[in-house]
Amino acid sequence: MTSRRSFLKAASTGSLLATLGPRAARTADLRLNEIEGRIARRDFRALIKEDLPTPSLILDSEIFDQNLRRMAEHSKATGLKLRPHVKIHKSVDVARRQLGLGAIGLTTATIAESELMSSSGLKGVFWTRQPAGRNNITRAVALSKRDPTFLLVVDDPIIAELVEQAAASAGARCTVVVDVFAGLTRHGMQSGRPALELAQKVDASKHLRLHGLMGYSGGASHTRGWEERRKKSCDDLAGLLETVELCRKSGLPVNIVSGGSTGTYNIDTENGLTELQCGSYIFMDTGYRKVGGKSNAAVYDDFGAALTVMTTVVSKRHPNQCTIDAGNKALLRPTDEAKGMPWITVENQGAEYGILKWKDGDRDLKLGERVELYPTNLDMSVNVYDRIYVARGEQIVDVWPIMGRSGAPQR
Ligand SMILES: Cc1ncc(COP(=O)(O)O)c(C=O)c1O
Repeated sequence: MTSRRSFLKAASTGSLLATLGPRAARTADLRLNEIEGRIARRDFRALIKEDLPTPSLILDSEIFDQNLRRMAEHSKATGLKLRPHVKIHKSVDVARRQLGLGAIGLTTATIAESELMSSSGLKGVFWTRQPAGRNNITRAVALSKRDPTFLLVVDDPIIAELVEQAAASAGARCTVVVDVFAGLTRHGMQSGRPALELAQKVDASKHLRLHGLMGYSGGASHTRGWEERRKKSCDDLAGLLETVELCRKSGLPVNIVSGGSTGTYNIDTENGLTELQCGSYIFMDTGYRKVGGKSNAAVYDDFGAALTVMTTVVSKRHPNQCTIDAGNKALLRPTDEAKGMPWITVENQGAEYGILKWKDGDRDLKLGERVELYPTNLDMSVNVYDRIYVARGEQIVDVWPIMGRSGAPQR
């Protein structure tokens, strides 16, 4: 214990840090601006999790690397190409690593994500929401002109026509994929003849180049039970495959048939896709862990949970519970799980607060203790942070900015 007297004495003699102990000395030594300076210089020596502010996003580099490699190996072994979805990480650093292991491009949800990845020099960006409205059409055409490897979808002849006109006036040529309905009512042209006719329209347009078809079975990705998921994915994709056949018979180019998700990566090998759009596999969240895998019905553990939100216990005035510094703003959810502490339950307690609870006899948490939580939905959680701290054990080994997160760049 440091008494007030010895504390003041130590302070006056300059030995305060030594009195507080080595850990406090280190922490004081790594003041916030010093930490920021080190991050800017990419000098991570001696930077450990304990030094970081909370809540922060922490990535376990070992599990992340395993996830990356596992999907890359699956792609090589099956011949099913990988164009991973970036909406999960919104990070150029992560995307580079996916491409480095053989991914043929990147899938995006927004034009801003597409612009970010393409302007970072990454090729084969595939935007899977059709451009609607002048702003998005103009940007999609401009991006097609700047980056001939950029692909965009249409699910409606009205948009195909508008993109054709915009491309004509910009002197551009857009490479287009027809989005075919695959069970998710949010998008996709009706399969069969309507989708064929849309593909024919694209093919006949002077400033559009038909590249292939896509169908995203979003309902299958989180279907519980591998067999149930398999059935759902096969049912959902049947119309897409029928459309592929129709297009090929009509002499249309079908260079790609894109779709799939983390939940169906080892199912869609039998569904006629040529490439997968999986995203969550790199980090995993508690929503996905619950859907069950082919070899483990209880936990979907084909990919490891690599990402956590690190929080601090900030108050502990009541039995069997404590308060943490992550709440609604940090996208805390009751379905989040505490890493290494399966007995802990999570509750929301306002914008900046959460509550962790335990039962009599469980190990309780201490004031100031760090608790890492597995988030429930990666897209949402990653979107509220500026950066991902990459950790090997306690040591921080890298920091990656989340350049495509919410706010202006997201639009
Ligand atoms: C169009 C599209 N493709 C693929 C995915 C797959 O993502 P995940 O692997 O994270 O389920 C998503 C996720 O929302 C998506 O919107």
